[in-house]
Amino acid sequence: MSLLTERLAPRIVEEDGAFRTRMLRIAAGLNDVIALGRGDSDFHTPAHIVAAAKDALDANQHHYTGPTGILPLREAIAANLEDRFGLDYGADEIVVTAGAQEAIMLTMLGLCSPGDEVLITSPRFTTYDTAVRLCDGTPVPVPTFERDDFALDVGEIEARITPRTRMFVLVSPNNPTGAVTPPGVIREIADLAVRHDLIIVADEIYGRLIYPPNEHLSIATLPGMRERTVTLNGFSKTYAMTGWRVGYLAAPADLVEMLTEPRHTLSINTCTISQYAALAALTGPQDPIEAMIDAYAERRAWLMPALTEAGFTYGHPGGAFYIYTNVSSTGLPAPQFCERLLGETGVMVFPGTMFGDESTDYIRISYLQPLPLIQEALDRIASFAARALATS
Ligand SMILES: Cc1ncc(COP(=O)(O)O)c(C=O)c1O
Repeated sequence: MSLLTERLAPRIVEEDGAFRTRMLRIAAGLNDVIALGRGDSDFHTPAHIVAAAKDALDANQHHYTGPTGILPLREAIAANLEDRFGLDYGADEIVVTAGAQEAIMLTMLGLCSPGDEVLITSPRFTTYDTAVRLCDGTPVPVPTFERDDFALDVGEIEARITPRTRMFVLVSPNNPTGAVTPPGVIREIADLAVRHDLIIVADEIYGRLIYPPNEHLSIATLPGMRERTVTLNGFSKTYAMTGWRVGYLAAPADLVEMLTEPRHTLSINTCTISQYAALAALTGPQDPIEAMIDAYAERRAWLMPALTEAGFTYGHPGGAFYIYTNVSSTGLPAPQFCERLLGETGVMVFPGTMFGDESTDYIRISYLQPLPLIQEALDRIASFAARALATS
């Protein structure tokens, strides 16, 4: 132990990175890996967005901006939230952040006090656990189940409420399950929040990636909810802009004012060039974005029956670009399934255990490759599963 690690603050805990490291090592030794692991689109950022960034560079937009972001971007975000989701926020109620990731941390810094319990839709994007722990709070997973297509059940939330419960993190569509919480359940969650005086953190980063007949309802549009909700969103998923690092939170102006100094402390402002790119994403042509969403829909429509035909079950995903697939029929626990699948067939998928799932039955498949590669991957998965079953 070095002098510095001896003095590590108690909030920093050691993570077990061994599994991820092993997967990366296996992948490094292969040359035809089909990557269906990360939540990073195979599509590149649409050209008009890239062009806007180049224009910003040429126009000497190389300086700091205000900590909450450039006004035209905040105005465009507010207008977009209204048009797409019926949300009512002004430009002074938006904080532009370095990805939704930083918005998560900023929200917890602002609202999670030591000892607070924070309920989180689960299996889950585990950044929430880390952010809550870094603020000396306790993450409390609210399980969802394959039998319900991983939809939230209000009874499961209510059963975990204690006098210390402060917040519920509603992620819909969810990562890793793709589950969309239906409008009726969102209304029940709103009633619950009022009854138990909970804050809602509504992570809507996949809110535009919804496959009919599923519907997205933004909880902050419901009566009495705006005042107790922080809405999070970002550009990474909808616009294929993961590397640009632009996200935001939307909340009543008095909270935004209080969060401005901590936001300044984190990174002063989101990369100025990226802010201009994000502005173009909102105000420019939407056809390239619609085309990406159509492609994801086509892949999902192909993949679901193909998985069934290969003998797997899954929760029907209403949104995002993930299918949470049950591999228990192979007899292999998910981490082992993923490691062997990668080593023996070159297909990279992630086990549910990476998303806080206590069950070892599930893998997350991201359908973020062109359809022919997804089809090739499924062939490899199906023959691997048949081999595993034969030798178990
Ligand atoms: C549910 C959820 N929220 C937030 C993020 C963070 O996204 P970004 O920081 O790229 O905007 C992700 C990324 O995978 C996610 O799945």
